[in-house]
Amino acid sequence: MAKPKVVITRKLPAAAEERARKLFDVELNANDVPLDAAALARAMREVDGLLPCVADKITAELLATPGRKAKIVANYGVGYNNIDVVAAKANGIVVTNTPDVLTEDTADLALTLMLMTARRAGEGERELRGGKWTGWRPTHMLATQVNGKTLGLIGIGRIGRAVARRAHLGFGMKIIYHDPYPLSDAGANALGAERRESIEAVLRESDFVSLHCPATPETRHLMNAARFAQMKQGSILINTARGDVVNELDLISALESGAIGGAGLDVFEKEPTVPAKLIAMENVVLLPHLGSATTETRVAMGMRAIDNLEAFFGGTAPRDRVA
Ligand code: DGY
Repeated sequence: MAKPKVVITRKLPAAAEERARKLFDVELNANDVPLDAAALARAMREVDGLLPCVADKITAELLATPGRKAKIVANYGVGYNNIDVVAAKANGIVVTNTPDVLTEDTADLALTLMLMTARRAGEGERELRGGKWTGWRPTHMLATQVNGKTLGLIGIGRIGRAVARRAHLGFGMKIIYHDPYPLSDAGANALGAERRESIEAVLRESDFVSLHCPATPETRHLMNAARFAQMKQGSILINTARGDVVNELDLISALESGAIGGAGLDVFEKEPTVPAKLIAMENVVLLPHLGSATTETRVAMGMRAIDNLEAFFGGTAPRDRVA
């Protein structure tokens, strides 16, 4: 029997590409150049399944491509706000994602940003590399202590819980959170986590606020001027979720006015564009969407997306179906 035809939109770690080659009649992207809308539309017309990544925009128009052959879009990423899932459902196209495998690495990166921002690590490194370090002194680059502070989590799904565990057990932090789905008593006790009834209540009490909610129409600009005004003066925002969850202009104003003390950001509203004003700020740590970027995890994400395709083409339900 002929193998199903699949397009993988970007270069994947070799182990994942090798497995895809065995299972599918696969088109790889050796040069790793992003596919434009026309190339994606051609793929929708000519192959059975698409394996895009979170930077590919899988729009309603694309999903309704006339003469479409593709029946599944197996996203390489846990977030799938790059895909119009409503349009996918309307067109009878299955959508899957890659949960679980990137939880620990993304949590590590949230902690990296928290520590770097609080302890002025980026600023210190720039000073040293710039040849401006004049030596140790008691008042040099004084920063914010992390140990024992309060961490507020907006969203306590898999990644939020992994962040809470590190912060509570490793740094003795008090954990508070808001999520429409409360933790079980046992889950909350294990993390020392207390629920708050509203996002505002979390913001008012927290020294650090870390975002762990998906990007949906409801969470777009969840962090806006009104919400920044609720945060403690000097507090720090961490975003490893999605750029859309934060109104970047309002964030810049909050940083400029001193309403908040700093931000550690791995995701941005218009990636890969990052506002020049953020780039110019010393109290902001900026990373290029590296949450899941370890070799182990990027291989595991590839395998998980391939598992989903394999199940679908084998006639069984893919494990990670989201639409
Ligand atoms: C995801 O999977 O959603 C990440 O943002 C990509 O690392």
